[in-house]
Amino acid sequence: MVTLTINGREHQAEEGTTILELARSRGIPIPALCNHEAVKPYGACRLCMVEIAKDGRSRLVTSCLYQVEEGLEVQTHSEKVINVRRGIVELLLSRCPNVRVVRDLATELHIKEPLFPIENEDEDCILCGLCARVCTEVVGVSAISLVNKGTGKEAASPFHDVANDCIGCLSCAFVCPTGAIKAEDREGYREIPKWGVRLKLKQCETCGYLFAPEKQLQYISKHECIPEDSLNRCQDCRSKAGG
Ligand code: FES
Repeated sequence: MVTLTINGREHQAEEGTTILELARSRGIPIPALCNHEAVKPYGACRLCMVEIAKDGRSRLVTSCLYQVEEGLEVQTHSEKVINVRRGIVELLLSRCPNVRVVRDLATELHIKEPLFPIENEDEDCILCGLCARVCTEVVGVSAISLVNKGTGKEAASPFHDVANDCIGCLSCAFVCPTGAIKAEDREGYREIPKWGVRLKLKQCETCGYLFAPEKQLQYISKHECIPEDSLNRCQDCRSKAGG
């Protein structure tokens, strides 16, 4: 256990805990758009910056990556922190002017204008990389990735073609903080336009509901060693049957 302070108040935490994890567990708000408990921290959005001081020296660190230390003094809303956070949100507002979570942060920080002229009003990807990371680290598929560098960076399927490895599980859409990944189930198929994917849906053999892509069920069957024919029913029907 280590003892440290956040905003002047003493806290204890297990070694290895990040400052962000500790702050969240104590209800101390720190904005963090590229962090999700399901995947490893990545440090992409820089919104989670906090000021730390130890032995008379202070500096800014990303709280999603920085682990607690004995005697650390953490400030989550110091002047330096707010200035950096404002700069990041101004940039995000230039890129994604109509994304709800970005607009909310801008309002919170009293930002009225984006830093640069807006190029694309419809841009909704903040390049946090959560979609690609969850696909690789949690699903184990790596169907999509962050490609290119600098201003050309984007989350994409290989060669902007069909993401052939995608199983249509929608984990990417679930973790995306901005709703940039849209999907639709229609006419017996699941479509995820961003990844160029169209996958046939399985019909529940009990209620007839089209409940999951066949490809996802095959993947689960193979990786969890579950016979495919035991995945022929939707979750509701399985629960009702006690299976
Ligand atoms: S949450 Fe820490 S850098 Fe994005």
